[in-house]
Amino acid sequence: MTTFDNDVAVVTGAAGGIGLAVCRALLDAGARVALADVDADGLDRAVEELGGERAAAFVVDLSDDEQATDLPRRVRDHFGALDILVNNAGVRQVTDILDLTPAEWRRTLDINLVAPFVLVHAALPGMVAQGRGKIINVASLAGLTAVRGRAAYGASKAGLAMLTRSVAVEFGGRGIWCNAVAPGVVETPMARGFFQDGALTETLVQVTPMGRWGQPEDIAAPVVFLAGGESDFINGAVVPADGGWTAGYHSVGAASG
Ligand SMILES: NC(=O)c1ccc[n+]([C@@H]2O[C@H](COP(=O)([O-])OP(=O)(O)OC[C@H]3O[C@@H](n4cnc5c(N)ncnc54)[C@H](O)[C@@H]3O)[C@@H](O)[C@H]2O)c1
Repeated sequence: MTTFDNDVAVVTGAAGGIGLAVCRALLDAGARVALADVDADGLDRAVEELGGERAAAFVVDLSDDEQATDLPRRVRDHFGALDILVNNAGVRQVTDILDLTPAEWRRTLDINLVAPFVLVHAALPGMVAQGRGKIINVASLAGLTAVRGRAAYGASKAGLAMLTRSVAVEFGGRGIWCNAVAPGVVETPMARGFFQDGALTETLVQVTPMGRWGQPEDIAAPVVFLAGGESDFINGAVVPADGGWTAGYHSVGAASG
């Protein structure tokens, strides 16, 4: 089981479904956690729910380069260290390509891809100086395989997967690990639309070999593993956590095909 000796993690999107589960799992494993989000009320609720001095809230709008750049410094000032960066904050744009505007495309990339780069860029020098740092990016199934209506979202997540590999290639020899988890559909506020449509949930179950969608804890567990010492020989990996969805065409063919 992965455990931490008071290591300090910053988790973006900490007020959301997956982010909060990641924070809880890191705290349970012995880390101290900086919860970062643009949603100040949601952060207050999250910190109150988690409780204790080992969790602290940091309000930040990651679409603002200056605020994103400053976040690692704020976390170090508060906790005295920064060992783990979890780039989890994200927005999802569901629009067919001809209806998508350049501004929507840019905003999706700004939050899902530019902000993780800015955070990595700001956190890396301190991590390299201390000789160790773990970065985990929360990508998506939609960055591994195209999903209709998610051109901007999928492009941002495919880019995040390549940022993951690029950091591992450039910094793997300097005590830095950068891996990603690529969730399938997970029951959170972001994916609410899926769960309001019975036909969609039925399709979800059909295309997923494991026959179910995910819960935030299904993503938090591999994030914690990739943040801890047990994953020290894994670098630059993009790990699907999608119940087998991207493994292949589970519902096509069968015995008669
Ligand atoms: N839920 C799914 O089905 C699913 C599937 C694949 C990938 N993901 C990815 O998982 C991550 C978490 O998603 P979730 O499902 O928990 O969504 P969520 O909407 O519950 O949480 C996202 C969080 O990001 C925060 N955020 C958005 N813009 C921000 C900004 N500019 N600055 C700071 N914080 C900002 C939001 O306030 C929110 O708390 C996202 O990157 C998402 O793309 C989710």
